[in-house]
Amino acid sequence: MERKAIGAAALEVGAVGLGCMPMNWAYTGSRRRGEESLRTVHAALDRGCDLIDTADMYGPFTNELLLGRVLKERRADAFVSTKVGLLVGEQHIVANGRPGYVKRACDASLRRLQTDVIDLYQLHRADPEVPVEETWGAMAELVRAGKVRSLGLCAVGARATRRGGRAGLHAETIRQLERVQQVFPVSSVMAELSVWSPDALETLLPWCAARGVGLLAAMPLGNGFLTGTLTPGQGFEPDDVRARHPRFTAEMMAANQPIVAGLRRIAARHGEKVTPAQVALAWVLAQGPHVVPVPGAKHERWAVENAGAAHLALTEADLAEIARLPRAQGSWD
Ligand SMILES: NC(=O)c1ccc[n+]([C@@H]2O[C@H](COP(=O)([O-])OP(=O)(O)OC[C@H]3O[C@@H](n4cnc5c(N)ncnc54)[C@H](OP(=O)(O)O)[C@@H]3O)[C@@H](O)[C@H]2O)c1
Repeated sequence: MERKAIGAAALEVGAVGLGCMPMNWAYTGSRRRGEESLRTVHAALDRGCDLIDTADMYGPFTNELLLGRVLKERRADAFVSTKVGLLVGEQHIVANGRPGYVKRACDASLRRLQTDVIDLYQLHRADPEVPVEETWGAMAELVRAGKVRSLGLCAVGARATRRGGRAGLHAETIRQLERVQQVFPVSSVMAELSVWSPDALETLLPWCAARGVGLLAAMPLGNGFLTGTLTPGQGFEPDDVRARHPRFTAEMMAANQPIVAGLRRIAARHGEKVTPAQVALAWVLAQGPHVVPVPGAKHERWAVENAGAAHLALTEADLAEIARLPRAQGSWD
C-alpha cells in the first residue's frame, strides 16, 4: 500500500488507516464483537493499513485493551495512535488537560496497549480550565521521555460547533494549533472529512498543507451512510451516535440518497467489485498527499474492502461529479 508522510518528523503511515471506535463505542453492536474486532485489526495490518486509531475513552478503556492483545504480538506492524483529554463520567464526558493527569493517562494507555511507545498521541479535546500550552507541554515531555513519538490535535467537537457552526469549530482549532505549535511541533490534525462533510478542505487543510501536518480524516464514510448499506428508517440502538444525529432521521437519510447514488454510479464505472465506500475513501485520499482517511470498522470484511480504496484512482471527471453532488441535508451546526 502507498505510504504517506505526516508531520515534522515525517512519520510514514499506510494511505488508509483503521478507526477502532466502532469496536467498543458509539455504534450499534459495540462491545459485542470482540473476536470479530480482533480479526478486523489483523486484516487491516495484513494489508498495510497500519495507522490504528483508538482513544482511552473508547469503551472506556476496553478498545485500548483489545488492541493490546494484537499489539503484544504485532507491535512492529502497527502505527499506534491514541488520545487523551476526555474522561467518561456517570452522566457526562468531561475534559481533563491537567499536566499530571495527562502523564498518568499516558502510562495507563501504554499498559493497556501492551507497548512501551505510542506513535501518535492526540489531544482529544482542549480543557477550557487549563491553558492548552500547559497540556501540550506535558505531552511534549512525554515525547522527550521516549513514551510518545509525535503529537496531534483533534478538531471534532460539539462545544465549539454550538458556538459558531463548523466554521467556528475550525477557526477555534486553528487558534489552538497556532498556540501549541509554539510549544512543540504538531504532527497531525484529526477532523471530520468526507464527501458529505467537506468543510475542513477550506479551513484546516490549507493550514496543514502549508506545514506538512497530516490531516487524519475522521468519519470518512459519513458514519456508515456513504457506504450505501444503511436503509432510511432502519433505526439505531439508543447508545448508537446515529440515534441522535440529525442526518440519520428517516427523512434526512431519504433526502440524502442522491449522494449515495452518485458514489454508486462512479463505483460502477470502475468495475463491478468497486463499492461506494471505496469511492468515498478514494475521494478523501485525492485531497492531498498528507490526507489519510481513518474509516472505522469492527467487521473484518469492511477492513478488507476499505484497504482496497488505496488502489482506486478517481479520475478528474469522477472528482468533478462528486463536487456536483447535492449538499448533505441535516446539519450538525
Ligand atoms: N477525534 C475524534 O474526536 C473522533 C471522532 C470521531 C471519530 N474518530 C475516529 O475516526 C474513525 C472513523 O470515524 P467513525 O468510525 O465514527 O465513522 P466512519 O468511518 O465514517 O463510519 C464507521 C461506520 O461505517 C461502517 N463501515 C465501515 N466500512 C464499511 C464498508 N466498507 N461498508 C459498509 N459499512 C462500513 C462501520 O461498520 P461496523 O462498525 O459495523 O463494522 C461503522 O458503522 C473512528 O473510528 C475514530 O477512530 C475520531
